[in-house]
Amino acid sequence: MKKILFVASESVPFIKTGGLADVVGSLPKCFPKEYFDVRVIIPKYSMIKEEFKNQMQYITSFYLDLNWRQQYVGILTAEYEGIRFYFIDNEEHFSGDRPYAGMPWDLEKFAFFSKAVLSVLPVIDFRPDIIHCHDWQTGLVPVYLHERFQGSEFFRGIKTVMTIHNLKFQGVWDIKSVKSITGLADYYFTPDKLEFNKDANYLKGGLVYADAITTVSRTYAEEIKTPFYGEGLDGLMRAREHDLRGIVNGIDYDEYNPETDRYIYKNYSARTFRKEKSRNKTALQQDMGLDVDPKTMMIGIVSRLTDQKGFDLIAYMMEEMCQDGIQLMVLGTGDPKYENMFRHYAWKYDKKVSANIYYSEELSHKIYAACDAFLMPSLFEPCGLSQLMSLRYGTVPIVRETGGLKDTVEPYNEYEGTGTGFSFANYNAHEMLGTIRYAERIYYDRKREWNKIVDRAMAQDYSWGNSARQYQELYDWLA
Ligand code: ADP
Ligand code: GLC
Repeated sequence: MKKILFVASESVPFIKTGGLADVVGSLPKCFPKEYFDVRVIIPKYSMIKEEFKNQMQYITSFYLDLNWRQQYVGILTAEYEGIRFYFIDNEEHFSGDRPYAGMPWDLEKFAFFSKAVLSVLPVIDFRPDIIHCHDWQTGLVPVYLHERFQGSEFFRGIKTVMTIHNLKFQGVWDIKSVKSITGLADYYFTPDKLEFNKDANYLKGGLVYADAITTVSRTYAEEIKTPFYGEGLDGLMRAREHDLRGIVNGIDYDEYNPETDRYIYKNYSARTFRKEKSRNKTALQQDMGLDVDPKTMMIGIVSRLTDQKGFDLIAYMMEEMCQDGIQLMVLGTGDPKYENMFRHYAWKYDKKVSANIYYSEELSHKIYAACDAFLMPSLFEPCGLSQLMSLRYGTVPIVRETGGLKDTVEPYNEYEGTGTGFSFANYNAHEMLGTIRYAERIYYDRKREWNKIVDRAMAQDYSWGNSARQYQELYDWLA
């Protein structure tokens, strides 16, 4: 039996700000239980809902040395859908109404978390064969393992995997502060280790010391070896290309299932969507105060409102799009300039645009079910889960061909009658608008063709099966 520990800053159902939480919470369930004991460790944020906090059992607590003082480490545990979760408790670091407070606060928070995770293992008597770290917040885990823990018998031989969900975020700050916070010696702050343009970089530390590196799609694994996508680490990615693989994300097919989804107005399947899917649309139009018409094409957006997701293209074309016979259903939070942009258009075109500037699991499901198309013109996209959810709900993705979007959405080819969505290559607002309008023409003028795209979209399989097998191969190869 191989033991694997996932270390991350978020996981469904406890805490989620984006796709990272979906992956960390759903992938562990997909390994064969006879061969793999996969457990997950995350911070115990005070904002975790009471219903979950009530399920947690206290194990024990101790103090660890960090940043020149003794810091409290509480350990709690809960089993959820057959997976053992551990939670690191420390009120100073994990209180507040968001998991992330920004720099420099997050630096100490996640140095503490990374050191605590390793310190906890002997205490709970769980010695993983592999520690699987996710994103910059856990970058120091392989570093601390190398620096102090590996010296002791318990830790010797533990292997590490570092998964990049988003190379944009690296945890970078000046060397002097990071040295003081982490307690790491000068030895670690050279350009072949944590140093990065004269600063210190947590993710880089993880990428240097991990035994293997993965990212969440094949195309992104290639892209990050180039300066445009490499965020300053493309050289390191090229140097480690033999230890780097792209494994595309899946989604939880039980959680995202139009046949059983409890959040949506009307359940439907690949057989019944022609009749039933539009009932979700009219119900949502009604609830959100848009014109109620099952025939109007509705385009959805569920996203963090950041530059990454291509919102400057949308902002640039929004007025034009509002001239078309479509409706836009937006759910998201993020950069105030995009929040306000959508609020403005929802005010100006109140029967066509609905701007929901908040976070809601329930509304997100309703949008995946109700819309005809889903817009995601990302500047870069390591994988993207929203387009996978859209495919599953027969909502045709309109995407830019980058990262995981390129790998998971096959562009419609009207001559061959193939494809599951619409896509464009260049980060260009006119190209995006042209593609949206092409989709509108197929939707309005060739409905049978459109419905066949939906058939093919719903027939795709982006459950975890295949990708979980690729992680298993990686684990077997390492340990
Ligand atoms: P990223 O991780 O870069 O944000 P992904 O497409 O991988 O992008 O994952 C985004 C996840 O977050 C999806 O599950 C999506 O439904 C969800 N999501 C994003 N914004 C919201 C929101 N405002 N309300 C509810 N869910 C959201
Ligand atoms: C990141 C990426 C997104 C990916 C998610 C889960 O947030 O931005 O593309 O799907 O992680 O891996």
